[in-house]
Amino acid sequence: MTQLQAAPLKTLSFSGAAVRPRHATATFRCSAAARSYSITLLPGDGIGPEVVAVAKDVLSVAGAKEGVELRFREMLMGGAALDAVGVPLPDETLAAARASDAVLLGAIGGYKWDNNEKHLKPETGLLNIRAGLGVFANLRPATVLPQLVDASTLKKEVAEGVDIMVVRELTGGIVDLRHFSAPPPPPPPDKLQLIFYKRLYPQIDCIARVAFEVARKRGGNLCSVDKANVLEASMLWRKRVTAIASEFPDVELSHMYVDNASMQLVWNPKQFDTIVTNNSYGDILSDEASMITGSIGMLPSASVGESGPGLFEPIHGSAPDIAGQDKANPLATILSAAMLLKYGLGAENAAKRIETAVTETLDSGFRTGDIYSPGTTLVGCKRMGEEVLKALESQK
Ligand SMILES: NC(=O)c1ccc[n+]([C@@H]2O[C@H](COP(=O)([O-])OP(=O)(O)OC[C@H]3O[C@@H](n4cnc5c(N)ncnc54)[C@H](O)[C@@H]3O)[C@@H](O)[C@H]2O)c1
Repeated sequence: MTQLQAAPLKTLSFSGAAVRPRHATATFRCSAAARSYSITLLPGDGIGPEVVAVAKDVLSVAGAKEGVELRFREMLMGGAALDAVGVPLPDETLAAARASDAVLLGAIGGYKWDNNEKHLKPETGLLNIRAGLGVFANLRPATVLPQLVDASTLKKEVAEGVDIMVVRELTGGIVDLRHFSAPPPPPPPDKLQLIFYKRLYPQIDCIARVAFEVARKRGGNLCSVDKANVLEASMLWRKRVTAIASEFPDVELSHMYVDNASMQLVWNPKQFDTIVTNNSYGDILSDEASMITGSIGMLPSASVGESGPGLFEPIHGSAPDIAGQDKANPLATILSAAMLLKYGLGAENAAKRIETAVTETLDSGFRTGDIYSPGTTLVGCKRMGEEVLKALESQK
């Protein structure tokens, strides 16, 4: 079994009460009966449409091989929606996403909309769809594949074997400042921490349970990252995570300050198994972890809530610097599609097919520019997708 197959998807299933995506039970009902699901596609901006087009084909073929029929509906989101209808998340898009079984997002954003007012920024559409779908847990695996160990910026002996899952809280923290914009008027700075304190309480408990559940099914180690030496909200975070730990005696819990964690991640990343942290720290640390694996273009993510469709997306943005040039690495989106099949639809075998096809494509030496090294074959986004499709189609 390759490392990609073994981790991180080897371990995680949502059998706990904390998170139960719409089709989670299907994971355990291995039946040959045909299943049919609706998928909302949100290509978005920049390289989003390029990588989603590739992932859609891969999803169709992998699903068909396992008797899973996937019906796709493409909707507007982000800058594309702003240009077409004047808002970053049209009501029809949210309604379609909610009514579907899972959502695959490319990326949103770009220079063109950078100076828009906040409510007219593509990024506001992203925050709103997360809120609208009620997803609160963002799972971001960072695994160094043997084939790509030389693409890491770290020394081989430091990078090889790294297999980290960052569990990021997605609904609170300083990323989401909607509640502090006028009206009502923003509270004075000394009251801000108190407000985070009140708002975060149930959010911490929920994300902690998800993280313990995830850690239990991986290496059994959970590192909670905060800034409890300074921030009141972080003190509460640490108190609640420690309290929830008593429900998971089989998981070893440790705590680390975020500044230290960012240093430890590049010094000795193998010490980490599962990390749980808040919205903004998770955003930053998972991007840092991505570079250990070689490229941000390799990392998928899943955002899930207690029920309803999950949101699956690569962790990278719209990469306006390479958009429209057929240079994007589509593997992060293809692997997000695999997470969609596994965690969103319970179609585990179809997900495994995709992971195997990706591994085989890398074994055959195909590389996009971001993961290229001498002696490998440089290809564009489309060709990389075609090679993954070929690998899929050749599977029995
Ligand atoms: N979830 C999202 O949709 C999301 C996430 C992050 C940023 N953004 C938005 O994306 C825009 C650009 O942001 P940024 O430049 O900070 O981050 P980015 O992730 O778009 O790009 C960072 C760097 O990584 C490269 N890169 C990213 N994805 C790649 C891929 N698949 N293949 C090869 N190279 C890849 C880019 O070329 C760039 O050099 C901004 O408008 C930002 O708000 C959106």
